[in-house]
Amino acid sequence: MKILDGKTLSVQLKKEISIEVQRLIERGNRRPHLVVVLVGDHAPSQVYVNAKVKACDQVGFDSTLIRLSESISESDLLDKIQDLNKDPNVDGFIIQLPLPKHIDFNRVTLSVDPKKDVDGFHPENIGKMVLGLDTYLPATPFGIIELLKRNNIETRGKHAVVIGRSTIVGTPVSLLLSRKGETGNCTVTLAHSHTVDLKSISLQADIIIVALGIPNFLTSDMVKEGAVVIDVGINRVEDATKKRGFALVGDVDFKEVSKKASHITPVPGGVGPMTIAMLLKNTLIAREFSLT
Ligand code: GUN
Repeated sequence: MKILDGKTLSVQLKKEISIEVQRLIERGNRRPHLVVVLVGDHAPSQVYVNAKVKACDQVGFDSTLIRLSESISESDLLDKIQDLNKDPNVDGFIIQLPLPKHIDFNRVTLSVDPKKDVDGFHPENIGKMVLGLDTYLPATPFGIIELLKRNNIETRGKHAVVIGRSTIVGTPVSLLLSRKGETGNCTVTLAHSHTVDLKSISLQADIIIVALGIPNFLTSDMVKEGAVVIDVGINRVEDATKKRGFALVGDVDFKEVSKKASHITPVPGGVGPMTIAMLLKNTLIAREFSLT
């Protein structure tokens, strides 16, 4: 069994990105600038946005973290987004999810300039992704594809079972895996809460991607010997033995499933760091795009 080490690979990717930043600067350009907007004080989101800002630092990007009150109105948030759309010193920006309940995710997504949409959530960018045109790929699906590619995992002709159909992970990763091209050509089954007899489907999978947010959902009886297992979940479960009072666990029962898998991502240290690296990659693309 091989661990798909997203942490080490993300360090390598960040090194590659920082070399590109140096090249930009040598040619007299300013550094890429990412803005991260955090609405409210959702605890896991605070950790993620801080990690994104720190990663910007590591590769030589400028970054700005904008913290907005949980009670901000939707129209005030949309105004803020318009300011960012217009600001020539901002190459890309993201609105960290989840948003408070009174703010409509779709309205927010539609208001982001697709050229600065480094999350790849805008319908224009999702449409381009489906058509195989150059665009920003959503960071988590992009990170999963890169992790498979850099570990020389063949996808062509494989049966990939994606569990969870969220708009930011499950749906786009199922599209990317089924597309034409070297990191696609899978036969994909997208399973969700209405899927009947999931186990009979997951047992056929050569590649399983679990993105549900349910701790230890995928158990070893659901996995074929030799499958590649990608765990997107990062769940906080109470654990009094830990300093912070909780442990981070994935959607996969790692201890048991790792005995059957040929490759598996750990949590933490698998998909999470890859997501951040791909957000940086998208921001670099945004900077380069704004120069052309
Ligand atoms: N929350 C969890 N994952 C993501 C992501 O990829 N982008 C944003 N904006 N919020 C998230």
